Amino acid sequence: MDRIITNEILDEDITDDNIRPASLDEYVGQEEVKENMRIFIEAAKMRNEPLDHVLLYGPPGLGKTTLAHIIANELGSNLKTSSGPAIEKSGDLAAVLSTLEPGDVLFIDEIHRMPKFIEEILYPAMEDFELDIVVGSEGSSRSIKIDLPPFTLVGATTRAGDISSPLRDRFGIVNKLNYYNEEELMGIIKRTSRVLGMDITDGAAKELACRSRKTPRIANRLFKRVRDFAAVIGNGVIDESITKEALDRLHVDKYGLDQVDIEYLTSLITKFNGGPVGVETIASSIGEEVSTLEDVVEPYLMQEGFIKRTPRGRVATEKAYAHLKINNQDTLF
Ligand SMILES: Nc1ncnc2c1ncn2[C@@H]1O[C@H](COP(=O)(O)OP(=O)(O)OP(=O)(O)O)[C@@H](O)[C@H]1O
Ligand SMILES: [Mg+2]
Repeated sequence: MDRIITNEILDEDITDDNIRPASLDEYVGQEEVKENMRIFIEAAKMRNEPLDHVLLYGPPGLGKTTLAHIIANELGSNLKTSSGPAIEKSGDLAAVLSTLEPGDVLFIDEIHRMPKFIEEILYPAMEDFELDIVVGSEGSSRSIKIDLPPFTLVGATTRAGDISSPLRDRFGIVNKLNYYNEEELMGIIKRTSRVLGMDITDGAAKELACRSRKTPRIANRLFKRVRDFAAVIGNGVIDESITKEALDRLHVDKYGLDQVDIEYLTSLITKFNGGPVGVETIASSIGEEVSTLEDVVEPYLMQEGFIKRTPRGRVATEKAYAHLKINNQDTLF
């Protein structure tokens, strides 16, 4: 099923360059991260040294890629991009590193998916700006050392736990991005609306903010769908009533839960008595991938207090029972 509130990047998000903030000033929220980055960037510029390597982690759609671009912009540097899964062989990494010019920012997305032996080649590159690679075929192979220009690696991951500690330790700056609050999301929605030349009322921005899973990517995506409803069946202005109607039609409820979340909770409660039950079991009962549940569905359900993770599996909370309007049998006895 297509989920409008999926955290995955949809085609329409790729064309989002115009609504993606380009400077720290335009980047809404994440105040602590922003203030620290401002200082580190300023200091690096003062010393005329590359910025220390930066690791960004947090759930999908919270602005890691955006922040990587902003870091390069604020440094006045070029950004080169690659990703963990794209670097399969040592030659792939060498190819990326050899394009770097002094002061460049190298952004590696999904850095947790880089093979272990590639990580080990990356260590000296990060620490000493040196690349040790083995060239030649078996029997006549030899190791060569290549000097690299000073550069800044920005790594992003949704799974900080999957990053080996030696790799993690080589990042001088580690930033966790958090879910956004309602006010920040309203700020993002209003900004998007301004950039796209639409009028939006405060009530509509608030309604969108509430149903966006605390995630800018989803806020922007819902905004665009609501804008379609406003243009076609409304009077062109995005107000509260057209927003509510559009979001109801899209089956995004007042907590931002969609049909997959509801199926998850319904299955947990009605088929497994509220848990504890393993995520694999829930996944097969609703026909979803385990990774989708773990990376996308569960972090938000947990954050909002609908489920808890225990050593024996997932457990539904009172809030989940109340939201689905199902009586919790356990509390009756
Ligand atoms: N702090 C912010 N202020 C304004 N807009 C933001 C902010 N963070 C993210 N956005 C918007 O949300 C969209 C998604 O952000 P981004 O692609 O940077 O997320 P991500 O963390 O890299 O996600 P993923 O883990 O899926 O790669 C961006 O296109 C941008 O427009
Ligand atoms: Mg990204």
